[in-house]
Amino acid sequence: MKFSLVKPNTSPLDLIAIGLWKGQKETALLRLLDRQWNHRVSTLLKREEFSGKIGEGKLIQGDKPIHALLIVGLGEPNRFAAESVRQLAAQAIRTGQKVHAKKVGIEEPSLPKNKGETLQGLAEGAILGGYSFDLYKSKENLGKKTVEEVLLMTLKNGKQHSDAVARGRVIAEATNRARDLINSPASEMTPQRMVQEAKKIGRSAGLTVRIFDRAACQKMGMGGFLAVARGSVEPPYLIHLTYRPHGKAKKRIALVGKGITFDSGGLSLKTAQGMETMKDDMSGAAAVLSLMKALPELHVPMEVHGIAAVTENMPSGSANKPGDVVRTFTGKTIEILNTDAEGRLTLADAIPYAIRQKPDLVIDLATLTGACVVALGELCSGIMGNDQGLIDRLIKSGEQAGERIWQLPLLDDYREEIKSPIADLKNIGGKGAGTITASLFLEEFVKPRTPWAHVDIAGPSWTEKELPLAPKGGTGCMVRTLAYFLTAEANRR
Ligand code: BES
Ligand code: ZN
Ligand code: ZN
Repeated sequence: MKFSLVKPNTSPLDLIAIGLWKGQKETALLRLLDRQWNHRVSTLLKREEFSGKIGEGKLIQGDKPIHALLIVGLGEPNRFAAESVRQLAAQAIRTGQKVHAKKVGIEEPSLPKNKGETLQGLAEGAILGGYSFDLYKSKENLGKKTVEEVLLMTLKNGKQHSDAVARGRVIAEATNRARDLINSPASEMTPQRMVQEAKKIGRSAGLTVRIFDRAACQKMGMGGFLAVARGSVEPPYLIHLTYRPHGKAKKRIALVGKGITFDSGGLSLKTAQGMETMKDDMSGAAAVLSLMKALPELHVPMEVHGIAAVTENMPSGSANKPGDVVRTFTGKTIEILNTDAEGRLTLADAIPYAIRQKPDLVIDLATLTGACVVALGELCSGIMGNDQGLIDRLIKSGEQAGERIWQLPLLDDYREEIKSPIADLKNIGGKGAGTITASLFLEEFVKPRTPWAHVDIAGPSWTEKELPLAPKGGTGCMVRTLAYFLTAEANRR
């Protein structure tokens, strides 16, 4: 998809999309078109009481040279306004594909300053909205991707503006790359294949790639990770990508993603329905690896480590068993009482490995608990950690990126629940607060103490419904938030 910046105009186009905020009656381009079309548009909008509420859309048959006009409601220009801008572009592209448009124009909506970069948002929305996972569709079932060119209609045309568009493209393509990894079936996207993908990313982005196989992980004492891997015939790997900027790095950041390429539950087997979407249990790793490729293009001036312990969680004669005790990287022992609480076992090794890189801060992303989906649903991630400033900054970056994150309290009193009579810890808590006890468990491995935030993405990593910016399936959540976060973090003081 090609983007260009052009002045608002009415030269030949297959589709033009224009957004209207609540109460807004017209834009420069709408006035121009309305005049050309004998006030047909304004009459129609008045008659049908177009209110501008978010999601409202009106497709109007055009006159040559413009074949169709799409008017989209943008809602209130409040603090989520940047997301309305993305959704406008996404809707424009989807409508464009439906009407077989090749060239689509989108007028840049007016947005109060400091409410977000509109051109970047339009590029993000267009690329996210145009995504579909087509690898397994035969020709006759393939939706046509007709849109080739997007004209962003704006009075801006400086380098900083084309740079903003380029940034939007990089961030959205990284998100779509994560979606591809997640949507690929687990029998394809095995730990081994994840390693191949990591190597490909590393090669194309000039990253340092380190891969540790089972024996190497054994040597490092990663008993938690390897216990999970025991039940599978697929060999496990620890993936470690490093990005180093040109010049002196301002900070060192470690990102850790949960990488269970399929979570059957192990011997604590899930139900058939519970397993249906469990190819998505590597969404954290997918986000981290995909984002790593974008770092050089985003000119992030910090050293970033992307780490994922990848394995399947399967039942078999060699699988780990409830009651087993394992020793982890830091020496802490864990009694495994439920083999389906496997994410925290892998993170119990991966997080300390990340901390050994001496980062200034560490963030982990994990589809960790069903309890988080119960608490916050599919549209919101949970966040917990040991550094309120870091948590606040991540939530704020999420807001700017259009991803919702809500903090849950890391109540120290619940730590009792994960104590084991025979080991240092057990891998499940009591009946309630499953998301919090899982986080408390992880915190035991954030040693020596490092600013740390854990994002439980069990809800938003997958969507059962089509969303404004994503079709059903893997969403690539948190790629955008982390991209915004890294940019903001680099500019902090
Ligand atoms: N991968 C799951 C969490 C999950 C569940 C993600 C549903 C998305 C949707 C995780 O490994 C898991 O199974 N957790 C258990 C923990 C329990 C045994 C303490 C859970 O949430 O049921
Ligand atoms: Zn599980
Ligand atoms: Zn899992």
